[in-house]
Amino acid sequence: MDIFDIQTKVVMGEGSLEQIKELGIREACIICDPFMVSSGKINELLTVLREGGIKYRVFSEIVPDPAIDVVVQGIIRILNHKPDAVIAFGGGSAIDTAKIVSYFYTTIEGVEKPLGIAIPATSGTGSEVTSFAVISDKAKQVKYPLSDKSLIPEIAILEPELIRTVPPATTAATGMDVLTHALEAFVSTGACDFSDAFAEKAMRYIFRYLPIVYTNPNDMIAREKIHNASCMAGLAFNHAGLGVNHGMAHALGAMFHIPHGKANAMLLPYVAEYNAGLVFSKLECNKAAVRYAYLAEVLGMPAATTAQGVESLITAIVKLMQTVEIPMSLQEAGIEESVFAEQLNALCEAAFHDGCTPANPVKITIDEIREIYIRCFTGTRTIAK
Ligand SMILES: NC(=O)c1ccc[n+]([C@@H]2O[C@H](COP(=O)([O-])OP(=O)(O)OC[C@H]3O[C@@H](n4cnc5c(N)ncnc54)[C@H](O)[C@@H]3O)[C@@H](O)[C@H]2O)c1
Ligand SMILES: [Fe+2]
Repeated sequence: MDIFDIQTKVVMGEGSLEQIKELGIREACIICDPFMVSSGKINELLTVLREGGIKYRVFSEIVPDPAIDVVVQGIIRILNHKPDAVIAFGGGSAIDTAKIVSYFYTTIEGVEKPLGIAIPATSGTGSEVTSFAVISDKAKQVKYPLSDKSLIPEIAILEPELIRTVPPATTAATGMDVLTHALEAFVSTGACDFSDAFAEKAMRYIFRYLPIVYTNPNDMIAREKIHNASCMAGLAFNHAGLGVNHGMAHALGAMFHIPHGKANAMLLPYVAEYNAGLVFSKLECNKAAVRYAYLAEVLGMPAATTAQGVESLITAIVKLMQTVEIPMSLQEAGIEESVFAEQLNALCEAAFHDGCTPANPVKITIDEIREIYIRCFTGTRTIAK
């Protein structure tokens, strides 16, 4: 038996911010990153709140990859004014912070959870519909993915106009995060037909529309498709889980301060080769390879045999990375060999113990993680060299 549960109401399309007026909110705490204020993007949200007679306060000190000190600041603010809604407005960092702040506020005060409204301003994490929130420990250089059903926002608002200003490098990184969510969810141990449906659609949109938005940020039709894909991939992995790609990316991101999506993207061809049995041959690899080949087939790539399907899919990923200018190796991304060698053990330990790793379709050892990191560092691939 399995249950596919969507706990978030998804409001999408132009003008969707207006929906906030209909939610019966008295007072909202807005948690956002400073860009939302400095760019004036917040004004549209504030206008809607004023029109709806909703009081608000703004906490805008969110930094990328938030650490516990930011969360503590958020909790102090929220304790002071006891809102009945928490509105997360920004990228995954703002949404994750809002989810954790709301969780601790509810626990500390013993009050009912404020209504969680997530308004993503990047198309990447899918955090607006997931039970996950990632928190960084800057001193230990580790990222912790937390997971609890109560972290899932009640409302997600997908307003594509907010995404127009995302610069190309962030568009590329966050878009590749979507692809990684969908691909990992599709082959993960927790996948089901329903998560597959969302993952497939998300991948179709990423392959088709990410090159378009990368070169033409003002193509709002393509932007909207990518924004929806991000949310659909979130729904897929919220059910199915992720895998070692995210485990390794969390470690890499925390250690070398690489944006989350870029870290995922750089690892993706190497992890896919491992899962498909092209690095170490293991029994579970056959199953993962068949899943990759199936995907290649439904995405319209050559897949007459499993081997051909795997090759087509990994080649398409590599091509997409080249199109959106993601470095093909850690070396190319500027990480020095001596620093990499020094940190390799810590990276492997963190990735092995990461909360995302157990859902990987192939049960991985720490030595295999090491081999994937080394291949990713040097750019050693079996396919699409
Ligand atoms: N909760 C989950 O399910 C989940 C899943 C994947 C990743 N994450 C976490 O989310 C974080 C990454 O989130 P992200 O990739 O959205 O990046 P982000 O939230 O860190 O934002 C990246 C940068 O983009 C800027 N930005 C945001 N919106 C913009 C806009 N509309 N126009 C111009 N600039 C804009 C921000 O100011 C910031 O400088 C990481 O900490 C990652 O680990 C969480
Ligand atoms: Fe991610």
